[in-house]
This record gives sequence, structure tokens and C-alpha cells, in this order.
Amino acid sequence: MALRAVSWSDAQPDQTRVTGSSAVPNSRTTLDASIALVTGATGGIGQAIARALHERGSRLLISGRRADVLEPLADELGVQALTCDLSSREDVARLCEAAVAAGVDVLVANAALPASGELTDLTPEQIDRILEVNLRAPIALARALAPLMIDRGHGHMVFISSLSGKVAAPASSLYSATKFGLRGFALGARADLRPHGVGVSVVLPGFIRDAGMFSDADVALPRGVGTRSPQDVAVAVIRAVTRNRAEVEVAPIGLRLGASFASVAPELAAAVSRRLGSERVAADMAEGQRDKR
Ligand SMILES: NC(=O)c1ccc[n+]([C@@H]2O[C@H](COP(=O)([O-])OP(=O)(O)OC[C@H]3O[C@@H](n4cnc5c(N)ncnc54)[C@H](OP(=O)(O)O)[C@@H]3O)[C@@H](O)[C@H]2O)c1
Repeated sequence: MALRAVSWSDAQPDQTRVTGSSAVPNSRTTLDASIALVTGATGGIGQAIARALHERGSRLLISGRRADVLEPLADELGVQALTCDLSSREDVARLCEAAVAAGVDVLVANAALPASGELTDLTPEQIDRILEVNLRAPIALARALAPLMIDRGHGHMVFISSLSGKVAAPASSLYSATKFGLRGFALGARADLRPHGVGVSVVLPGFIRDAGMFSDADVALPRGVGTRSPQDVAVAVIRAVTRNRAEVEVAPIGLRLGASFASVAPELAAAVSRRLGSERVAADMAEGQRDKR
């Protein structure tokens, strides 16, 4: 199948149609022969993911908005930097074209805005930006890269969601909308791309210490609520790709059990977490992340 850079707006449904064997190829991707795109590589978790993929031999394209952070990282690792604003559809189309032209076979859609705050505290413009960056951009990248991966019969897409993609919390309705959405998209795309040998995973971090949007907000967690590191998220991404995992959670067992419980009993789980101080944590987080809207 001839390939070209497919921009989101001109993509036709039949461009991804592939006929042939009904056998399911092995969708495990080898990192040392891969070309990987990491979005949000200027952020706390994105930097850890980029370094981990680089250490395992992936050829990298890294992207972010802040050129002053992105370019030194690209120079240090000797990789290609693509500065772009994912809230701009033109920039997203350009990133899609660059990713297809480079032959990306591992996509790590990691960039996101924290999107915290109560619904009435977000302006319509902020809501649009959150939806574009957190949800539309990863879907557009997946749509652009899928034909290339299908044509080759291998490739992997990793979407960085959150435990907020399983359990909703106060002052994070927009964040949860995007993270539930990304998880649903990833699991659906996984089913569609599996027959073509292409893997899709969703990674769900809990609270991440040392760097990233939670750490930057400087919020105290209730006693007993544990954290994980950006490097733990990077290891989860590697595992997701090399073992073709559907979902990988990156959080202590207590939080993971809590998230599973919330999936089946959301009202009861919300009452328990209120008692544990979720409203205070959410309000502090929204305040600490106000400058990232
Ligand atoms: N940290 C946590 O505790 C935690 C928990 C669960 C899930 N996550 C998820 O992990 C991922 C990484 O988060 P993080 O903690 O590393 O956050 P972070 O440090 O705030 O980094 C966010 C990244 O997204 C990029 N980004 C934001 N808006 C953008 C835009 N308009 N265009 C292009 N890039 C944009 C940022 O680029 P610039 O900095 O260059 O603007 C940055 O590289 C996110 O998907 C987040 O939802 C994080």
C-alpha cells in the first residue's frame, strides 16, 4: 500500500483498509529497531520515557511546546526535536506528517494538560484547549500512523491516561473526561488493530512524585497514599510495548484496588474518598495547577 502523510482533515475511511490473511500476526515490537515518537517530552514523565526508550536503542523523535527544554534534551540524546503546540490543529497536522515521513512505529502519546478545576471555573476556551491537547491530538496521531503500522504488520501505540481514566474525583471532570476517553479509545483501537499485528496499550499512572504535573503542584497527600516515580511510568511504557499489554497501572496496590472498586461502585467509592480528604487534595491541586490551563 502506498503511504503518504495523512492529515486528520483529509483522511478517508478506506485508507486504512487492509485485505489479506486473517491470521493474527505477533504484535510484540522490538524497541532496539524502532523509531519512536514521544509527545510531551519536555514534561516530567515524558523526559523519563524518552530517556528509557533511548537507552533501549529506539531512534527518537521528541516533541513539546517549550523549545528551550526540548532542544537541549534532543541535543543530549542526539535525537530529533519537533516543537509543536498540540492545541493547534495545523501543528498537529504537521506533527502527523513528520511522524509518518520518519516512519514512526512506536507512538507514545504522553502530552497533556492537568485540566484540574471545577467545570464552572474553566472558561470555554480552556475546555477546548484541554480537549484538543489531551484527546484529539493523540487520536489524530494514531489515525495518521495506523496505515503505516498496518502496512508493515507491526507497530505499537501507547496512550498515557491516568487512574483518573478509571475513577473520577472532585475538581477534575474535564481531566477525567479526557483520560476516560483516551482509555476507551486505546482499548477500542487495540481491538481494531490487533488483526494487523499492531499493539495498542494504555498506561494509567496514579500520583507521580519528583517531577511532572502532580509534583509541580506541590500538594500534600493524605497519609498512606503512595506515589510512584517518572521512571516507574517509563518502565511501564517499555513493558506495555515489549509485552503488548492492554493496560498497565503505575500506582501502589491500595490505589489500584481503590480504582477498581470505584469502577464498580462509584458512589460508595466517592463517599469513602471524601472521608479520606479527596476534596482538599483536589482543591489544592486545582490551585497548584492553575497556571497550566
Ligand atoms: N504526574 C502525574 O502524577 C500523572 C498522573 C497520572 C497521569 N499523568 C499523565 O502523564 C502524562 C505526562 O504528565 P506529566 O506529569 O509529565 O506533566 P507535565 O510535566 O506537566 O508535562 C506535560 C507535557 O505535555 C506537554 N503539553 C502540554 N500542553 C501542550 C500543548 N498545548 N502542546 C504540546 N505539548 C503540550 C508539555 O509540553 P511543554 O511543557 O513543552 O509545554 C509537557 O511536555 C500526562 O498525560 C498526564 O496526564 C501524570
